[in-house]
Amino acid sequence: MKLATLESTSVLTVPLAECRICASETSLVLDLGAMPPANWLTNDPSDVVHEFPLTLEQCVSCRNLQLSHCVDAGVLYSRYNYATPQSKALSRHYEELLMALRKHGAGDESFVVEVGSNVGLLLEFFKPHFQRVLGIDPAENIARIAQERGIDTIVDFFDASVAARLKQQGGPADVIVARHCMAHNADPYSLLDGVDSLLSANGILVIENAYALNTVLNNEFDQIYHEHMFYFSLSVINRMLRRYDMEAFDVQMSEVHGGSIAVFAARKAARYLKTQAVVDTLASEDDFFGSDAIRRFAASAFEIRDSLTRVVSNAVRSGKTIYAYGATAKGSTLLNFCGLTRESIPYCADSTPIKQGKFMPKSGTQIVSEEWAFQNPPDAFLLTAWNYKEELIEKVRRAGITCDFIMPIPNVLVTRS
Ligand code: TMP
Repeated sequence: MKLATLESTSVLTVPLAECRICASETSLVLDLGAMPPANWLTNDPSDVVHEFPLTLEQCVSCRNLQLSHCVDAGVLYSRYNYATPQSKALSRHYEELLMALRKHGAGDESFVVEVGSNVGLLLEFFKPHFQRVLGIDPAENIARIAQERGIDTIVDFFDASVAARLKQQGGPADVIVARHCMAHNADPYSLLDGVDSLLSANGILVIENAYALNTVLNNEFDQIYHEHMFYFSLSVINRMLRRYDMEAFDVQMSEVHGGSIAVFAARKAARYLKTQAVVDTLASEDDFFGSDAIRRFAASAFEIRDSLTRVVSNAVRSGKTIYAYGATAKGSTLLNFCGLTRESIPYCADSTPIKQGKFMPKSGTQIVSEEWAFQNPPDAFLLTAWNYKEELIEKVRRAGITCDFIMPIPNVLVTRS
């Protein structure tokens, strides 16, 4: 996207000097500088991409972690390319979510709605187990893929008015799942407004997000990008739910996206039994927010940058080639924060067909298929999709390639296959 086609930055971003959850004062945590939205892949490496401030801040009252500048959703998703990958780890996770829903009473007759359903992989898995599944996703190109797979999917942003329409057409939902999408809206209450309108009296809401404590304690500063406007903890989600007379009754931690939390919530009147996991999680969050973990997290971002740029420049100087592996949004933040470009990282292997042939924004690194990367192997892969590291390393090994792997997170580590 050329700079000239966009209006002024102030129209496209909404800076706010207050907490978007409780309206209290905020303080700066980490300024990553100006960057293009991480998923704005370009068709040409020299495409000038619009950049927006990328700054993490924290509420001094409710401890919410949020971006100071939120890019307008219409602009952010104008060129959305994220398609959930086929992954063994994700399939196991879907199974665990299903088991938890079953345990909490969701049955064969349930109507399940997924908000931000992407290419429909979760609903495809759920479909044989429930009466009806329905997806809703604002990215038309992505929703179309789900429809082609036979998953009933509506193209729209989920909010109270869309929810009311869905309820009128199909009745209340017994289960609403919102995986990794509540942080994608400058006003996360709009999703809960919709839930409040659509969820049945005893219905279950599952909100899954990257877990703030994992992000911080694991030095995952690359989880910070414009789509991730919030870094949720259970205490902040519970605080939001209170507005709707809802609360969390169970949580499930997983390895997904570097450490995620799935919060199971319901209306208070439905009287679900609160699990010990909820009590323990809230207690550990109290300890965490009382420590200096967030200050150390900010410092570690700069240490990782120094260390990674040193490793890459030493390798390039000695004639070695490095490819990234996984054209993730995390990868965009990592490359751009570290100032790494196609000069040192010319290619990025990725299994997603719609990403291949495109270029990572600003760094200009070209996305190629895994097959091409394996036929033209580098001396080292920088694991920009480090959250799938076992699967990626296994694929490289199976291709008979001997090379180094550079793990950027939680600290820069070079290993050999
Ligand atoms: P994510 O961490 O945001 O889910 O993105 C993972 C990226 O990694 C996605 O673009 C697909 C890519 N990927 C591969 O290229 N090969 C794989 O085996 C897996 C699991 C993911």
